[in-house]
Amino acid sequence: MAQQKEKAPFIKVPTDKTGGFQTMPTDSSRRLSDKQVRIELCTEADAEEIAEGLYLCFPPSWWATKEPPELRPPHTTRIRRMAKRLTPALRPALSPHTHFVKAVLVATGEMVGLVCWTGPGNPGIHCALARSAVAYYGWQAKMGWSDEEVAEMWSHVSDEGWNGVIGKNDEVRRGVFGAEPHWFLAPLMTWPDYQGRGIGSRLLKWAIDQADQTDPVTPLYLESAPSARPVYMHYGFVPLGEYNMVRRGPAIVRGLEADEEKEGQEWAQERKVDADEERVN
Ligand SMILES: CC(C)(COP(=O)(O)OP(=O)(O)OC[C@H]1O[C@@H](n2cnc3c(N)ncnc32)[C@H](O)[C@@H]1OP(=O)(O)O)[C@@H](O)C(=O)NCCC(=O)NCCS
Repeated sequence: MAQQKEKAPFIKVPTDKTGGFQTMPTDSSRRLSDKQVRIELCTEADAEEIAEGLYLCFPPSWWATKEPPELRPPHTTRIRRMAKRLTPALRPALSPHTHFVKAVLVATGEMVGLVCWTGPGNPGIHCALARSAVAYYGWQAKMGWSDEEVAEMWSHVSDEGWNGVIGKNDEVRRGVFGAEPHWFLAPLMTWPDYQGRGIGSRLLKWAIDQADQTDPVTPLYLESAPSARPVYMHYGFVPLGEYNMVRRGPAIVRGLEADEEKEGQEWAQERKVDADEERVN
């Protein structure tokens, strides 16, 4: 069983690919409390809300490669199709190792965060979001979908985006783990108004805590957006390649730039000055 260790306070990654944007440590004054947020498993009834969140949380530049603007139907149709594509992965009977976990505002019941974790024991390495997953997991027959229905729900997407890229990522993951049991994350998102308030941490810990309970600890794996890498490094994920990261128990993982420690100290000092000023005003 793994012991929790100290974490790096500030992690900076190169942001040339993200227009200067990267995640920042959560400001304690904005953090949502356990009374304000609850974490629970999704059901099939959440499919449309998850689909809406996907279109809201991931940037237009990312969607352009997955669903080219010239192929897109009206937004409501995109949501309906996405929700339908997600349904088999949300059915425990069809996908017992896939866990969609949501963060919900206690006051309103609104979904404000989501993670999908695929747990150890999944039959083979095959991302449930890929178009090829329909055939790989036999979902067409199990869902009773006709060929036309399957074609319709994928008709506006880029094959390279939903098969090519995901397939290559699966191949890389196979190279890392072979048959070794592991947790796989895809996707993680917090609704924009609630980012930087501790939701992502809760959704990550849902699987990290389980992974660290085993002896030896179970590895966790993901492909990260460049802007989100500090979040994962903060939780002990170690970069393997340009996108993929693995966590094998708690670890202190620092930034990718030599001067990150100095910048971290400057950042901490600025935060202290801001907090002092707020106290004075
Ligand atoms: C990435 C994303 C999911 C993070 O979710 P979030 O709810 O904003 O994250 P949190 O506020 O819980 O922060 C996560 C943790 O990372 C820490 N963190 C964030 N940036 C950090 C940095 N630069 N250095 C050190 N720690 C950092 C936070 O302090 C927090 O840890 P703590 O709870 O121990 O303090 C969210 O920004 C998002 O949805 N982005 C758009 C979609 C996306 O890019 N998803 C990821 C694809 S791989």
